[in-house]
Amino acid sequence: MSAVVIATAFGGPEVLEIADQPPGEPGPGEALIEIRAAGVNPVDYKAYSGVFGADPARLPLRLGSEASGVVTAVGPDAMGPTGPVQVGAAVIAFRAPGAYAAELVVPASALVPKPDTLDWAQASGLMLTGVTAWHLLEATGVGPGDTVLIHGAAGGVGVMAVQIAVDRGARVVATAGPAHHDLLRELGATPVEYGLGLMDRIRAAAPDGVDAALDLAGTDEALDVSFVLVPDRTRIATIVSFERGLNTGIKVLGGAPGADPGTEIRAAARLELARLAQQGKLTVLVSQTFPLAEAAEAHRSIMHGHTQGKIALIP
Ligand SMILES: NC(=O)c1ccc[n+]([C@@H]2O[C@H](COP(=O)([O-])OP(=O)(O)OC[C@H]3O[C@@H](n4cnc5c(N)ncnc54)[C@H](OP(=O)(O)O)[C@@H]3O)[C@@H](O)[C@H]2O)c1
Repeated sequence: MSAVVIATAFGGPEVLEIADQPPGEPGPGEALIEIRAAGVNPVDYKAYSGVFGADPARLPLRLGSEASGVVTAVGPDAMGPTGPVQVGAAVIAFRAPGAYAAELVVPASALVPKPDTLDWAQASGLMLTGVTAWHLLEATGVGPGDTVLIHGAAGGVGVMAVQIAVDRGARVVATAGPAHHDLLRELGATPVEYGLGLMDRIRAAAPDGVDAALDLAGTDEALDVSFVLVPDRTRIATIVSFERGLNTGIKVLGGAPGADPGTEIRAAARLELARLAQQGKLTVLVSQTFPLAEAAEAHRSIMHGHTQGKIALIP
């Protein structure tokens, strides 16, 4: 038996409980991993909040989708994206449904070798935000010489998008609260405070104009200024404002109905992200860690909406 976090009802973080469940044996094409850290993402609390429906047949709900850990057993034909998966290997598992756990059986195809530049907590937070940022930059064609505006740049996805855009040779103007401006400067971006007067501040920071904009904040303000500043709407993308995005001809990315899930781009991005991390060009900023048994506290923290970088759970 090993520990797992479950949502026993739909509601707030108070519905989370820790339970003991057998992790199971890896079958063909699968591996068992001992989890060292699990990444926390806003979608994890949205899963039981009711925003995606509240069908009681889905309860109890396992949570999480990304983790780092060590392979402890493999089934037959356990082939990962970089070759056969071996017992003892340090790996990142993504997508790994149910990753809020001490042990988990995952498809071997979900396992990427852990870059040794990242510790366990950092490695657990590389993939979900990383593949989303990669998809955003691909969908808007951001490359050398571009100026890209990133709304909500200090959170999990934002910190990834800033680093990858800088690595691609783009100039980055990044919105965030003042508490995160030093961090964004260190990552190579020009920080700008969101809120009243945002348009003028962006114009001052990017006097030659803005070529592309990424909305990770989901506010009307973020899209309003993007529509004015970016001449080509196909170079504006949102991962949050699905309805407005679909009605305005911009790129709408993710799992919502009508959005582009980017399944292949995101799957392929995993190895690129691991390579960039291994080369020291991409890091994961973990601002908080919580014991697995305190998943509810971790969710209360990320629900405030002002997380810097990532939060990780430690079994
Ligand atoms: N569609 C997809 O595929 C996909 C994938 C991943 C995530 N998402 C969604 O994308 C959003 C961001 O995810 P995340 O993991 O980066 O979240 P996060 O780590 O919780 O970060 C949220 C960030 O938003 C910033 N923020 C809050 N209010 C803002 C405002 N009014 N204007 C600009 N920035 C503001 C905060 O920075 P300050 O402290 O500076 O305010 C915070 O750093 C979430 O809604 C998430 O569910 C979608």
